[in-house]
Amino acid sequence: MSEFAELTFRGRTIRLPATVGTEGEIGLDVSALRDEMGVITLDPGYGNTGSCQSSIAFIDGDQGILRYRGYDIADLAEHSAFLEVAYLLLHGNLPEADQFDEFAEGVMDNMLVHENLRHFFNAFPRDAHPMAVAAAVVASLATFYPESMGARRGPDAMESCRRLLAKLPTIVAWSYKQSRGVPVTYPRCDLGYVQNFLHMMFSTPYRTYEPDPAVSRAMDLMFLLHADHEQNCSTSTVRMVGSSQANMFASISAGVSALWGPLHGGANQALIEMLQYIQLAGLTARQFVDKVKNKEAGIRLMGFGHRVYKNYDPRAMVLKKAAGDVLQKLGVQGRLMDTAMELEQVALSDPYFLERKLYPNVDFYSGIILHAIGMPTNMFTAIFAIGRMPGWLSQWMEMNSDPQTRIARPRQIYTGATQRTYVPFRQRGDGRIPNRRPCSAGE
Ligand code: ACO
Repeated sequence: MSEFAELTFRGRTIRLPATVGTEGEIGLDVSALRDEMGVITLDPGYGNTGSCQSSIAFIDGDQGILRYRGYDIADLAEHSAFLEVAYLLLHGNLPEADQFDEFAEGVMDNMLVHENLRHFFNAFPRDAHPMAVAAAVVASLATFYPESMGARRGPDAMESCRRLLAKLPTIVAWSYKQSRGVPVTYPRCDLGYVQNFLHMMFSTPYRTYEPDPAVSRAMDLMFLLHADHEQNCSTSTVRMVGSSQANMFASISAGVSALWGPLHGGANQALIEMLQYIQLAGLTARQFVDKVKNKEAGIRLMGFGHRVYKNYDPRAMVLKKAAGDVLQKLGVQGRLMDTAMELEQVALSDPYFLERKLYPNVDFYSGIILHAIGMPTNMFTAIFAIGRMPGWLSQWMEMNSDPQTRIARPRQIYTGATQRTYVPFRQRGDGRIPNRRPCSAGE
């Protein structure tokens, strides 16, 4: 008999079978709880809830470990590159040379978007946030590929994966061009994935942007380090929307929206805005940290803390070094960077942060790098989205191949009013009948 836990409540006992993962993580299966005992589990924020079994990413938050398909993140960061990691996540294994060539060519061939889609960009206001544009345009891709909408697994679904992976950099870069009121730049087949993104962002009809190799490498690294992070908020959103059998484009668009929040992918933009605020308000790092500790107006130290990592964020370790390299290579200095470094120092030696196990997360250093290379602040989260795309896609594909997948539908504990009877307007308050009447009812 396999392992189980016993739960006793009001004199009744139920066995909860244990599922053990390949790294020894144990999940107790509570799926029969409600049917057999009439109770549910309550776990706000899902901190102790496993929603699926997955073979894509492994995290040990206490040890600061992140692995994609078994490969350590630091190993991949040192030896691999984003597109190879995208293949790894999507297919489960590292590619051989011909497999990689075929994959990379498939992605490059798809970087262009339908010409009609280009006109969408003109319809958005100049100051539209790139994440709003990205979510809208990604969802609208479904209208251009109606034949792929039903594909949930196999080669057709994989083709949609390549399309999304290929087109998001174009969509993001074009949203920037639109916000500047300048013509869009088309992708080039002689450039790699990251170089193409930088080219579409910064080349103009009269000047070709030649990125510094240190900038291309830092950008690739950032994409790679963000590529997957198991069941985080945006990935769970992608799975949740996909569990209703909504198409891949709709599911990914929902993931883009979830990522936008400042507690998730929006933290890198929020970090720079926080640094700007500190400067404008004339505060020292110490004074700002004290404000955070006093929980004044709900201010948090952006780029610090993580739901899972309670030791250090292994992605942040890699990016911290990359940030140092980029700052040195580009000779970037300035008060903003000094403030970031001071904040890091102050927080890392402050009992408030140490006791709560709050360390710099990946967004702290990605914000610094993106700022250093001159990326507009409101583009930061959209860049995170480009990096996260392989993870969203892999998780969506895995979910659709998992026979255990059901529509995601959490329960709740209702805390509202118990049953009451409707009272007509004339018996409510001063008895006045409203001028705007809801149909003819309520009198
Ligand atoms: N600054 C100050 N205090 C913090 C911070 C922070 N950044 N993060 C957590 N805390 C405090 C909380 O106030 C709370 O204190 P209390 O016990 O006195 O009430 C305690 O630490 C625990 O915080 P929770 O909110 O329960 O932690 P949770 O796991 O829910 O939140 C999160 C994780 C959202 C990442 C949080 O640390 C945070 O808001 N960080 C800042 C935003 C950020 O950088 N997000 C990016 C995350 S990485 C990513 O998405 C790629």
